[in-house]
Formats: sequence, structure tokens, C-alpha cells
Amino acid sequence: MTLADGSGIRTTKLGPMLGAELHGVDLSRPIDAATMDAIRAAFRDNPVLVMRGQDMTPSNLIAIGDTLGFIEPHSILQYRHPAHPQLSYVTNVKPDGTIDEYGQNKRAIDWHIDGTFKTRPDCITFLYSIAAPSVGGATQFASMYAAYDALPPDLKARAETLSCFHMRGEGWKCTAPPPPLTDAQKASGEFDGSVHPLVIVHPDSGRRSIYASPTHTSHVVGVERAESDAILDAIYEVATRPEFQYHHHWKVGDLVMWDQRATMHRAGGGTPRDQKRVMLRAMVVSNLRADAA
Ligand SMILES: [Fe+2]
Repeated sequence: MTLADGSGIRTTKLGPMLGAELHGVDLSRPIDAATMDAIRAAFRDNPVLVMRGQDMTPSNLIAIGDTLGFIEPHSILQYRHPAHPQLSYVTNVKPDGTIDEYGQNKRAIDWHIDGTFKTRPDCITFLYSIAAPSVGGATQFASMYAAYDALPPDLKARAETLSCFHMRGEGWKCTAPPPPLTDAQKASGEFDGSVHPLVIVHPDSGRRSIYASPTHTSHVVGVERAESDAILDAIYEVATRPEFQYHHHWKVGDLVMWDQRATMHRAGGGTPRDQKRVMLRAMVVSNLRADAA
């Protein structure tokens, strides 16, 4: 699809329900207002947006993130970029060149939505590929718009009335929680958990989306535990259907931006131990509570 702004920027679908590539943008250069408008328009319709062949510096990544909101540093301190702490690495390699076992085997392997446990959750996440394996290492995305649309009518009506409590790594189906917080982080109050509606309305697209994930969603508020587990289990069964997914197989220079208010994601694994998988990340936050219906 060519956007009707005369810029030559266009999108092509990467999957039937999710995933699109945006052509015609060069993020190594300052992004003018028309280009940014085109990116916003494409992103509104495609909550996983891929821009390939980019030659970006950390400053380029910060520039596009800053345009869309506030870039918040990641909670795992050891992965923060030393010169640009608002950026962090997703990597299977330690700074000394040895393998990072957490990054290789555990990190983000369960389905999740970034930062739902925060009072001010992440809104948009960017990953920029610096090193990519020849096989494996995909990031898998699932459309929570499609999940909402496909819920059985009774469950959909019930979900509209419910809220969930989110706590970092304490999701009912989390198998690989993130590393512990520091004492200062625990004392900050930022990680005490947060309650959000189970169904949210995206502020830009107007579409309804499921806002819960196996990693960080502890329980449905106000119902017995067994009922909470049954509700979330039924929702996850729909949300993880293969036809609602797009799997991104990384190439160096890929920038992927995705919307936390419309998708969940996980690391697909399978990176060979002798190959590097390194990405630079920026996370833009918003106050989702204000956005929710
Ligand atoms: Fe994530």
C-alpha cells in the first residue's frame, strides 16, 4: 500500500493478521515531519512495523523514540547502553565476549507485553538488529486485536467487565522470570504492580485489544483464583493461535517497532550458541490508564 502523501513511502504485509514492512524511510538521517506522519499512519494500521536495511546509531534510535514519547530505561541494569542508558541491549553475548546464558536461554521466552506491571507501562518498543544468527532467534508477535475479535461472545462480554493485576515476572504462566530487582528499584514503588482493564481501547486506532500476558498478569481482580486462571487460560488459548502471529526472523539492520497496546511477543529461541544475537532497544512509555476505556 502506498501512502497518499506523495512521499513514496509504502507498506507491504508480512503476515495475514500482523506484521508489515515499511519501505522508503532512511532512519540514519533526520526524520522530517512528513516522514514521521507517514510512520505514525503506517503504525496505527500495523502494530508490528519492520524497517529493513537501516544504518542507525544510538542517537538515531533515541531520535525516533523521543518523537513518539518518553524513552524509559530498562529495569535490568546490566543491559543498559553505557553511554546512552535510556537504551539497552538484548543480547546473548557478554561484554567480555563470552555467552550470556540468560540472554541465550531464558530471556523473554514466555509470551508477554512489556512493562504492564508499571504504573506507566511501555507503549511502543523498538529493537534494532546489530548481529543476527543465520538460523533461529526469531521474535514472535501475536495480535491482541485479533485475540479480542476472536473471543467467544460470552468470554468477550465478561472480559469487558474485568481488570487484572500485573506484577513483574509473577504471571500465572511465567516459566522464566526476569532477574531480581535491586533494593533501590524495590524501594522506588515503580515495581509494586499495577491494575489495568483486561480489554483496552487503543487511543489511535480505536480498536479493542486484550491487555494480559502469561509473564506479568498475575490474576483477574475480584474473582476466585481458580476462576481467574480459567479466564486467562481461555484468553491465552485464543491469543496464541498460530494464525494470529507473525514471526520476525532478524537480519542486521532491521528496525522493528511494535505496539504494546495491540500485541504480545516472546523470544522464539533456537539461536546457535556460537552465533551472536544482539539488538539495541528503546521503550517508549505512556500512561495507559488514561488511554483505557
Ligand atoms: Fe519484551
